This record gives sequence, structure tokens and C-alpha cells, in this order.
Amino acid sequence: MSVNYKVVVAGCGGMSNAWIDYAMQRPDTEIAALVDIKLEFAERMREKKGLSCQVFTDLAEAIEQTGANLVFDVTIPASHFQISSTAMKHGCSVFSEKPLAETMDECNEIVRIAERTGMSHAVMQNRRYDARIRTLRELIASGTIGKVGFVGADFFLGPHFGGFRDAMASPLLLDMAIHTFDQARLITGADPVSVYCHEFNPTGSWYEGNAFAICIFEMSDGSVFNYRGSWCSEGAPTSWEAQWRITGETGTAIWDGHSLPYAEVVAPGDQEGKFIRDYVRVDPEQRVSDESALSGHPGCLAEMFQALGEGRLAETDCRDNWYSMAMVFAALESAKRGEKVMIAELMRD
Ligand SMILES: NC(=O)c1ccc[n+]([C@@H]2O[C@H](COP(=O)([O-])OP(=O)(O)OC[C@H]3O[C@@H](n4cnc5c(N)ncnc54)[C@H](O)[C@@H]3O)[C@@H](O)[C@H]2O)c1
Repeated sequence: MSVNYKVVVAGCGGMSNAWIDYAMQRPDTEIAALVDIKLEFAERMREKKGLSCQVFTDLAEAIEQTGANLVFDVTIPASHFQISSTAMKHGCSVFSEKPLAETMDECNEIVRIAERTGMSHAVMQNRRYDARIRTLRELIASGTIGKVGFVGADFFLGPHFGGFRDAMASPLLLDMAIHTFDQARLITGADPVSVYCHEFNPTGSWYEGNAFAICIFEMSDGSVFNYRGSWCSEGAPTSWEAQWRITGETGTAIWDGHSLPYAEVVAPGDQEGKFIRDYVRVDPEQRVSDESALSGHPGCLAEMFQALGEGRLAETDCRDNWYSMAMVFAALESAKRGEKVMIAELMRD
């Protein structure tokens, strides 16, 4: 098979391992260069992976010298705007780690540059690529519980990261909630309209910033999405996928984030006059049978490459991810102002 994609990998830290490993097993893809502001990190990665590509500290130079057409942005969030915009302006498509960028203005500008240059820019939202969440989405989309009215996600964990997260002003909302917010959009197929958020740091928290947030989103289908998230809760942890309860006109879907989701719906037959209706349990078939090969990062990367090959936007294209990012920044804005914030206020063309 001929090589269609010449990739420059920007950022050679921990996360880049998964990206490089995935690219190396694609026969249509060649790693043309590794870039890191610390050259020794790029050199070390080249040696670790047994690559023979060039190494650089500057992305533009790497693209110009190798003729690359695709950039993996696996740098830190503060660099995502600079790396993405440089890559697209140099004629490269971009596959980027989350978050799309560090501020809403930068997210807006990345979307504008993608539109203007015609380049693809897709974002890693690995938690979408999971057989269980796809099964839940199908359960909802097929009308098992009727039209959705409420979506609740509980996320309670107590990770002791140490390092930069312990000192951030809003570690949970900025570093983690993007995943759960993006999952809510996948599950419901709805986009955010407004949010009220209360962010706080409860007693006992080992973070300097706010590690707890309660958010109430109004969604475009008229439903309400309630996020209760904490990174400072000891005991009885939820899954990193969150724990979900979705209520519809005729039933409720439950996903604990560990096993497969299920629903409980009003039983068929005459239920008139009953104080509490009878319910039947619905256990859906797992939607994707061989998910192990395509879950997480490889699943999302496979979709990004497939979309590029087919000349369509990837499921997590920046124009879609923009809505998930707006949920994060609108929640932060709401917490700051102490009032409800309209999402459209932040998503400027
Ligand atoms: N999707 C997930 O589940 C998940 C999990 C962990 C991390 N991430 C994301 O992956 C990204 C990288 O995280 P990490 O854990 O590998 O961080 P890291 O600090 O280990 O690595 C980042 C690397 O980027 C380099 N770098 C910084 N600025 C640069 C620039 N302008 N040009 C070139 N190189 C630059 C640094 O020197 C470092 O080697 C972050 O955006 C993070 O949020 C995603």
C-alpha cells in the first residue's frame, strides 16, 4: 500500500506513545518527523520507537523540510492553538489531543482557520469509542425510553495526581469535564443551549482550585442535562465514564459506566389506574461486537483517518467539538458570574 499520510508528531510526552504506536501499524502512514520544544524528548522517543525520522524543535520547519500533510498535536493544552493554527496554515490536516484549545477565543479561531483553509481538524475524544456508550446511544436513539427529558451524570472520584492539577483554578471543569460533556452530546444527539454552574472546593479537598461542580444545562431537544462532578471525593467512586440516568417519556436508561447499559420501561398491557406502573427490563445487544480493537484512542484515530480518506468531517471534527468546549467555558463563566449563561454568547463566528 502506498503512503498517503506523512505525519509530524508535535509533543513527545506520555500521551504521544499511543498516537505513535497507532500510526506505526498503519501501512498508509509514515512518521516523517518528531517535534518537541525539548529536542532530547523527541530524540528519546525516536530511539524508543525505533524510528529513523528527523527531529525538530519547530513545527513549521518540520513541515517544510519533510513535506508532511498531517500533524498530530499531542502537546500540552497551552500549545494547542499555536500548533493547530501553524499546521493548518502550512497545508496540513490536524488530529489533536483534547482540549481543542485553552480558551474559547482560541477555539473560535481554530474553527475559523479550519473553515478558511479547508483543512480537517479533529479532536481526540476517546471516551466516545467504547462499545458500552455506543450501546447506550443506540438504546436512546431507537426510542426505547421515548423522548428524553432528563440526563444525569454523576462523576465522583478521588485521584491524588500531585503536580499541575492540584494548583489549577478549575481542575475538574478544565481538565476532565470535557469528556463527560462530550459524552452527554453523543448519548442524546443534542447540543447545549444554556448552563447554570456552581463550582466549589469542599472541605477536605486536597486541590487549591475548585474540584467540585454542579451544572444544569438546557439542551437543544428541550431536555435538561445535570452534571454532578468531583475529583475530591473519597470512597464509593464512580467509573471514569461517569454514572448515567436518562429518563424518557416511557422509561429510564441506566449506565453505571462499567457494565452494559439497560433500560426499564413501562410494561405493555393495560396500566391504567395503577399508582406505580409495572416495568420490564430491556437489555440491549452490545452494539459493537469486536470493540476491543477499536476502543479508546485507536478507535478515535481510526475514525479520524477514515474521515480524511473519505473527504468528510470526522465525528470529532473541531466544528463539532466546539459545542463540547463551549459547555466547559460557559460553565466556568456561569460559576464566575453566579448566573445562567447562554452558550451562543461564547460561540462567535
Ligand atoms: N484523551 C485523554 O484521555 C488524555 C489523557 C492524558 C492526556 N491527554 C492530553 O494529551 C496532551 C498531552 O499530554 P501528556 O500527558 O502527554 O503531557 P506531557 O507533558 O507528558 O507531554 C507534552 C509534551 O509536549 C511538549 N511541548 C509543549 N509545548 C510544545 C510545543 N509548543 N511544541 C512542541 N512540543 C511541545 C512538552 O515538552 C512535552 O514533551 C494534553 O493535551 C492532555 O490534555 C489526553
